[in-house]
Amino acid sequence: MSEATRVPVRLGERSYDILIGKGLLAQAGEHIAALAPKARLAIVTDENVAALHLPALAASLDRAGLGHSTVTIRPGEASKAYGPFAEVCDGLLATRVERGDLVVAFGGGVVGDLAGFAAAVIRRGMRFVQIPTSLLAQVDSSVGGKTGINSRHGKNLVGAFHQPSLVLADTTVLDTLSPREFRAGYAEVAKYGLIDDAPFFHWLEKHWAEVLAGGPERQEAIAISCRAKAAIVARDETETGDRALLNLGHTFGHALEAVTGYDSARLVHGEGVAIGMVLAHEFSARLGLCAQEEPSRVAAHLDAVGLPTRLSQVPGGAGTMDGLMAAITQDKKVKRGKLTFILTRGIGESFIANDVDPAAVTTFLTEKLAEAR
Ligand SMILES: NC(=O)c1ccc[n+]([C@@H]2O[C@H](COP(=O)([O-])OP(=O)(O)OC[C@H]3O[C@@H](n4cnc5c(N)ncnc54)[C@H](O)[C@@H]3O)[C@@H](O)[C@H]2O)c1
Repeated sequence: MSEATRVPVRLGERSYDILIGKGLLAQAGEHIAALAPKARLAIVTDENVAALHLPALAASLDRAGLGHSTVTIRPGEASKAYGPFAEVCDGLLATRVERGDLVVAFGGGVVGDLAGFAAAVIRRGMRFVQIPTSLLAQVDSSVGGKTGINSRHGKNLVGAFHQPSLVLADTTVLDTLSPREFRAGYAEVAKYGLIDDAPFFHWLEKHWAEVLAGGPERQEAIAISCRAKAAIVARDETETGDRALLNLGHTFGHALEAVTGYDSARLVHGEGVAIGMVLAHEFSARLGLCAQEEPSRVAAHLDAVGLPTRLSQVPGGAGTMDGLMAAITQDKKVKRGKLTFILTRGIGESFIANDVDPAAVTTFLTEKLAEAR
């Protein structure tokens, strides 16, 4: 077992550690017992993760003498909805968890967002531990305390900020992730390079195959990503400023998720983000903010990794202009008729633009949709 990497998230009294390493699942009991020695644990997981990894987690908790029960949801984005949320809350209450007990979010971003939101509201707030099992969850969603569900009005529109007390990212559990889901998580890894770390993006261009294969580069890429996220969250916990940079590619990406009906068979979140990041670079080039080579380089890298980068790659089509614009203007990054986009002056030079003219987006998307036909 290699040494775990510790990344602190510095948020005053809400500070916590992210531990990243091989075999951490087997040590989960010790780590959680150190945090809350007498707590009972209510694990929230999904059917896929339960079948593959729950026995290892349960055995570790048993060894540490921690009592636990489990609430299992259906896998997929469709579970981030009112109905499943109510089921999780009632499931947790049925386990008779008390305020001093802990909720354990054991799964990908869907489980993390749903269980974290339940932990935020059950008994007016319970502590929770994130044990992320997808690459996307390890590098992004398990860190920073954004929790929530989708509404028919859009993605993540109902939720709360609720920080976990600990994040345990066991990199070996990623070996059972499908290649498609692994690549989807990789989009969020590349995002950190594109936001403000060009050397990291260049490193990824050289080492992406090792990151996919699971060598030490995987742990390094996850640690760099977590440090980047932790730094942004520490500067701006509730997204009044800088944290919005993490939405690079997400306004377009969320719109694509909405027009494909949050159907994981067509598009998963990270794939939407991959196409969205390329579009954000192309749109920036169109506005004269960056050179035309920049979007090409971003697309070439994501293409090499096997991610979709063009609207024509959305199975079943990328919807209509009206559908996309409705989703974009409903997204929470809209203020007084102007759109907020994360734009870029080049790789590693993203910035928040609060005054994007919707007409410019419409013209750009009209062209992109025409190209996709
Ligand atoms: N809270 C945040 O800050 C934040 C940030 C980014 C994304 N998100 C959210 O995260 C969600 C996407 O997360 P995701 O990509 O992890 O999706 P997911 O939770 O749906 O997981 C993807 C699939 O992989 C399976 N899976 C997970 N771990 C596995 C493993 N180790 N082995 C085999 N299968 C495994 C799941 O069962 C699921 O079928 C979206 O809802 C997105 O909005 C939240």
